[in-house]
Amino acid sequence: MKNRRNFLKTACKPIVLATLGIPIIEACSSEDDSSVSTQTTSSSNNSSSQGGTSTELIIDLDDNTFSSLQEIGGWLNFTSENILLVRISDSEIRVFDNACPHQGTRNQWSFDGTNFTCARHGNSFGATCSGSMRCFDTSLDGNILTVDLG
Ligand code: FES
Repeated sequence: MKNRRNFLKTACKPIVLATLGIPIIEACSSEDDSSVSTQTTSSSNNSSSQGGTSTELIIDLDDNTFSSLQEIGGWLNFTSENILLVRISDSEIRVFDNACPHQGTRNQWSFDGTNFTCARHGNSFGATCSGSMRCFDTSLDGNILTVDLG
């Protein structure tokens, strides 16, 4: 009985629910990803009645998850935030929505140093903010990348 209580106290909730026959799909890890945080800010514009909110994603590039971005031309499909990142220069990392402009596939990207190619239907898109991929404003301060998600 004591073992059962200890199990229920220490097991993560999805495992307990699965043990009870309740199907749930969820990660059990209790590690939090401290290398990425989001910040939502409200703004108001005195010249009009409209205000708004914006969300910033703050990424610590020192985290191993982002090691591919240390070299110019390195890139990453960061699926947990639905963004593609590519190192353009020492001072610039471009960030795009990872939804393919064709039909929205998010996880079939490759990058040749100039263009992203989506393997779903083979379309390629330039890694520029003037192309058809949705590009986010970014700023880089040391190894801290801030992405304005709008
Ligand atoms: S969904 Fe990407 S090329 Fe069609």
